[in-house]
Amino acid sequence: MQQPMQPTVQKPLQQPLQIGPYKLDNNLMLAPMAGVTDRPFRQLCKRLGAGLVVSEMLSSNPKVWNTAKSQARMNHEGEEGIRSVQIAGADPELMAQAAQFNVENGAQIIDINMGCPAKKVNKKLAGSALLQYPDTVESIIKAVVNAVDVPVTLKIRTGWNPENRNGVDIARIAEQNGIQSLAVHGRTKACMYKGEAEYDTIRRIKAAISIPVIANGDITSPQKAQEVLNYTGADGVMVGRGAQGKPWIFKQIQHYLETGETLAPPPLSQQFEILYEHVTNVQGFYGDTAGVRIARKHVGWYLSEHDTDRQFRKTFNAIDDATEQLDALNAYFQALQTRENRQISPAA
Ligand SMILES: Cc1cc2nc3c(=O)[nH]c(=O)nc-3n(C[C@H](O)[C@H](O)[C@H](O)COP(=O)(O)O)c2cc1C
Repeated sequence: MQQPMQPTVQKPLQQPLQIGPYKLDNNLMLAPMAGVTDRPFRQLCKRLGAGLVVSEMLSSNPKVWNTAKSQARMNHEGEEGIRSVQIAGADPELMAQAAQFNVENGAQIIDINMGCPAKKVNKKLAGSALLQYPDTVESIIKAVVNAVDVPVTLKIRTGWNPENRNGVDIARIAEQNGIQSLAVHGRTKACMYKGEAEYDTIRRIKAAISIPVIANGDITSPQKAQEVLNYTGADGVMVGRGAQGKPWIFKQIQHYLETGETLAPPPLSQQFEILYEHVTNVQGFYGDTAGVRIARKHVGWYLSEHDTDRQFRKTFNAIDDATEQLDALNAYFQALQTRENRQISPAA
């Protein structure tokens, strides 16, 4: 059972982080999520208040760069703001080459993935499995930092299992070898996504190094963001699943950190506009066939609080046509709005 967090010091709102030459708008980051933080979602989160958005991880293996999946992940056309691109792999030379390739392709920050516990990634000894091999960690960091002129950041977990929370050692290696900002997910590799994130290790890491530390894991509300910042002393927070279907969470967190007041979610009409734009962009980005499929999961997240019996989602997920998808959303939100209006003025 996790101890409740005791806020130590109420931290004043920090100055926006500077990562190399880049000054962020604020210290709130969208976590890299494969299959989620594609260009349409990153752009949306940026517009709705994220200070930095990180791309889905890209394998350092050049053999897969020509696949449709990698090509979509490498697509930054028209992307506004700072482009932080995450790479994953275990071979220092391949990682260095991948970093160079992505910088040539427009990356302004290279983020190294040592946080992903996915079997697919770890089978090839990468992601958070690397935490077990500090020498390899050091070689990868050195190779990538030396290979590119842009800032290199790192994302880790707290260790590889609860008995081996070596996050502080890894953080020191990161700092000594030129990493400019460190994001830490408060779970070990072995924990996958189970249990609650713990913030003690993040707090120890923050106390041990001088580069910016970004706290990550289970931050799903402005209040939680404030608590985690206070407890860990971290310089910023990174939000992953909490932004799924709620890209406005960044604005809500920023507002709370600035004022101590809770900002309500956008009204239904605005939520509809955001979702409609998001689905349209997903369809445009991937093309109708893949776009329709990929849009479904996002719609599911947006509607989880409205469509509690999942009836609409069942119908929606059976739609294969892009225009029909948009029409169905339009009709659904109109009905929701009518219901909400009736509740506000029952006499009408
Ligand atoms: C669907 C999904 C995909 C993810 N993909 C990546 C990834 O590509 N790279 C990475 O470093 N972490 C990845 N993560 C981990 C997240 O970045 C984040 O550390 C984790 O979800 C904890 O943060 P949260 O509780 O705010 O979601 C992924 C997580 C999820 C749920």
